[in-house]
Amino acid sequence: MCGIFAVTGPEQDAGSQVLKGLKTLEYRGYDSWGVSVREAGSNDLVVTKDIGKISNVNVPFPKGKEAVGHTRWATHGGVTVANSHPHQVGDVTLVHNGIFENYAEHKKRFLAAGSVFNSDTDTEVIGHIISELLNDGLSPAEAIRTACTKIEGRFSILVMFKDVPGIYAARRGSPLIIGRDKDQTFIASDIPAFLEKTRLVNYLDDDEMVFIEGGKVQFYDLDSGEEITKRDIEVPWKLEHAEKGEYKHFMLKEIFDQKDSIARAINHEDDVLNKAVELLKSSNGTYLVACGTAHKVCLAAEYFFSQISGRKINVVAASEVPYFERFINQRTAMVAVSQSGETADILEVFERAKARGAKLLSLTNVESSSVARMSDVHLPINAGPEKAVASTKATTAQMALLLLLAHADAGKINQGRELLSTTSSAINDLLNPRYEEHIRAVAAKYVDRPNMFIIGRGPLYPIALEAAIKIQEVSYIHAQGFAAGEIKHGPLALIEEGVPCMVLGDELETISNAIELKTRGAKIIGVSSENADIFDDWIKVPDAGCAQAIATLIPVQIFSYHLALLRNLDPDMPRNLAKSVTVK
Ligand code: M6R
Repeated sequence: MCGIFAVTGPEQDAGSQVLKGLKTLEYRGYDSWGVSVREAGSNDLVVTKDIGKISNVNVPFPKGKEAVGHTRWATHGGVTVANSHPHQVGDVTLVHNGIFENYAEHKKRFLAAGSVFNSDTDTEVIGHIISELLNDGLSPAEAIRTACTKIEGRFSILVMFKDVPGIYAARRGSPLIIGRDKDQTFIASDIPAFLEKTRLVNYLDDDEMVFIEGGKVQFYDLDSGEEITKRDIEVPWKLEHAEKGEYKHFMLKEIFDQKDSIARAINHEDDVLNKAVELLKSSNGTYLVACGTAHKVCLAAEYFFSQISGRKINVVAASEVPYFERFINQRTAMVAVSQSGETADILEVFERAKARGAKLLSLTNVESSSVARMSDVHLPINAGPEKAVASTKATTAQMALLLLLAHADAGKINQGRELLSTTSSAINDLLNPRYEEHIRAVAAKYVDRPNMFIIGRGPLYPIALEAAIKIQEVSYIHAQGFAAGEIKHGPLALIEEGVPCMVLGDELETISNAIELKTRGAKIIGVSSENADIFDDWIKVPDAGCAQAIATLIPVQIFSYHLALLRNLDPDMPRNLAKSVTVK
């Protein structure tokens, strides 16, 4: 949700460097973009900004050694040039990721005093507050610290001041990572922005602030203003992990990464898994919380635990947890599943659950994420960077790890490992160009239909729900998933001649439901291990036993990807969405 990036160093092309880095963060927001360069000689902070995707931008910048930039996912204020970041107020230039929840009350005060606003954003109000504090005689660092005491909500900001060299940043709730390369320093919302230059990083924590100038880096506590030291960390990522390589889109690359990401997801020592199991066993109530696709993973995990270890899990969408808060106490195991580990709804659940004494377990793809760092026990899913907005490899990695955890909970870790490594090999065999081409041909038959329905039972029911999300978000076709046995209780009324219905699995009851659909005119796309006469089209998946949900999801991802392509859409950047949802 908005990407921010800053560069300071000896080179005079900081503007172009920021533009290049921002392009790697485009998955965080792609409504509009902007860069501010401290112009060599004049020291003026020259802003270049526009609406549209940053990937298409190739503009010159003034010479300068320092620059900050932003790629936006609009919250306050529509997609206009005026609302794009950076915003300038007096000597202050800033970019912002997050939401300033109480901005309206401050804006009212400034307007009453005659201040003029150039945008509808909450960010510009922060600029006015910092500028006012500077005018009151505070130093730049003090002005930022004091301004942060007035901001409610999650945010991270980067600030430049005219005539004051260097770049300041502060964080409360939205990620900021500092990259260090001898005499050059970077600050970004995510590592790929500077991965080409360095793998040496410091993670800024909540209520911390940093000042960078060339190779100089100083960290401060945001409340006290005292200088603090941070641990240098070398991240294991390689540049090619964050690039498309030979693939046309990140989504396809990430689908094919599942050849080995599932094996990586389960590559945990027994004692790490047992620590997580202990946390579950010491509780008298387990909640599995997540959003969007990860929430569907949790619904599948509810079946895994029920079938394998007999544990009852309460699955709740993170945004709905407040309605069940009275049940959360010191005996609760609160388990979060999140690719990014920065999703605002989950962070809020974790903060509130922690305050009530619950034990926190998380599965995330970003080990340094806020969710991971708040947890008592964290299990990395090790999928590698996932950049397409539509989650694919992180989804199957989360399912694989939860399936393994269910086995560990039942005292059957080795059995779980065996099952998942067999599944991983079968997926490896499955993912080839011929298989992809077959699925593309099936997608081409139905691409013009306005509606699609997907049914599944047992652990394939959550996969039907997830299939609907995949189809919706990348192809914009209206898709809905149902429990196979539920269609006769209402959804059958939606079926008319030629409507495509994807049927996940080949259990006898599911096939009966497929017949009910076909009788009413539906076209049936079977996704299963065995073919059936009732199917108009068949996409084969390996028989993976308890891991069937994982194997079945992969062709569905490919199907969605090709629907998007056939409709001339960019599957990596669906309209209105962003990869990491750091606002509520
Ligand atoms: O980073 P998270 O896993 O917490 O994100 C949760 C959802 O926003 C995410 O799964 C979303 O639904 C995806 N776009 C689906 O593909």
